[in-house]
Amino acid sequence: MAKVAILGFGTVGSGVAEVLSMNAASIASRVGEPVEVKYILDLRDFPDSPYADRLVKDFSVIENDPEVSVVAECIGGARVARDFTLRALKAGKSVVTSNKEVVAECGDEFLEAAEECGGNYLFEASVGGGIPILRPLGTDLAANELTEIYGILNGTTNYILTKMIKEGVPFDTALAEAQDMGYAEADPTADVEGHDACRKICILASLAFGRHVFPRQVPTRGISSVTLADVALAESANMRIKLLGRTLRQADGKILAYVAPHLIPEDNLLASVEDVFNGIVVRGNAVDDVLFYGRGAGKMPTASAVAADILDVVKNQGRKVGLGWAPGGDDVMGDLDALPMAWYVRGTGTVPEGSKLPQGARILGCDEAPDTWAFLTEPMTRRELNGCLEAFSETFVLPVLA
Ligand code: HSE
Repeated sequence: MAKVAILGFGTVGSGVAEVLSMNAASIASRVGEPVEVKYILDLRDFPDSPYADRLVKDFSVIENDPEVSVVAECIGGARVARDFTLRALKAGKSVVTSNKEVVAECGDEFLEAAEECGGNYLFEASVGGGIPILRPLGTDLAANELTEIYGILNGTTNYILTKMIKEGVPFDTALAEAQDMGYAEADPTADVEGHDACRKICILASLAFGRHVFPRQVPTRGISSVTLADVALAESANMRIKLLGRTLRQADGKILAYVAPHLIPEDNLLASVEDVFNGIVVRGNAVDDVLFYGRGAGKMPTASAVAADILDVVKNQGRKVGLGWAPGGDDVMGDLDALPMAWYVRGTGTVPEGSKLPQGARILGCDEAPDTWAFLTEPMTRRELNGCLEAFSETFVLPVLA
């Protein structure tokens, strides 16, 4: 029998215990042995929980129990999670996690520790909730050179944007609903300001392109400055606004990565990804574009992915599974301001004269945003756009997905 410890009995941790119990029989037959939760670590008391007898408050109980072969870290945050992850790996255990913050900050360190100590470190649930996205990069798509990954990576903001745009629900109400449903981070600023999507694009970039990409290397903008006028102006051009994370590998091997709200054409499949769903496009040089779609957040979808990693390491005790990447550094990232893209530029006041606009720009206007103007540019670099924008006093700029 395989013995598992779950760290953190919050939304995801309790979901993992539930999945392992709900599907215990089929899991045992698939893995070849029963998988049992021996400990759950949490500082809180849960006297009414069916798992009350397995709750512990001291991590060293888990660390020093040789029966525990797998630790599922569902604590969140980076500091305590890093400490416990390293201690578990050094004690020869495998660690699986849904914690994108700690993977994005310390993934290379954990992968190295796992390699040295004979365990595995898996983190499928850290990107895309229940969507299988990380494992396919190294298995089904392994014959490709991956060139680009982009998509809707945060369920909370996609839920908020969908509710605001389709039902006119105010931002705060939509956010409160997302929190009630267990989609949002403990501090929802991480969702709203794009930090969560940033961590996820870092993990995807690191896996796809082989060097650690850190959140501090990735320019990030969330949805807090997107207005209903932007939504209406985008609609007037048959486009929708979605928060996307995007990463590319240039011909010189340098990596580009950023997070920003984008205008995307209505006929792009990502425009139809709504509510808590995520949609992630992976481009390979043989397969072309592949779209991964599913629930990007929530207790049971995320627990499904954590539990799958548990089964993978139990089935493969003593063998290396999963993927890795080399350390990062200052030489990893390319020049994002040199990437050609089309742009949406919004301003207020008098509509600018044609002579002030970048060549080929198309003015947008609609009744829902009477005091606001906007234009769409032809593809140009951000550096070139900045030159054109010197003629304007104040503008708000978003990229447009071709
Ligand atoms: N807060 C995250 C989201 C949870 O909304 O996508 C899943 O990673």
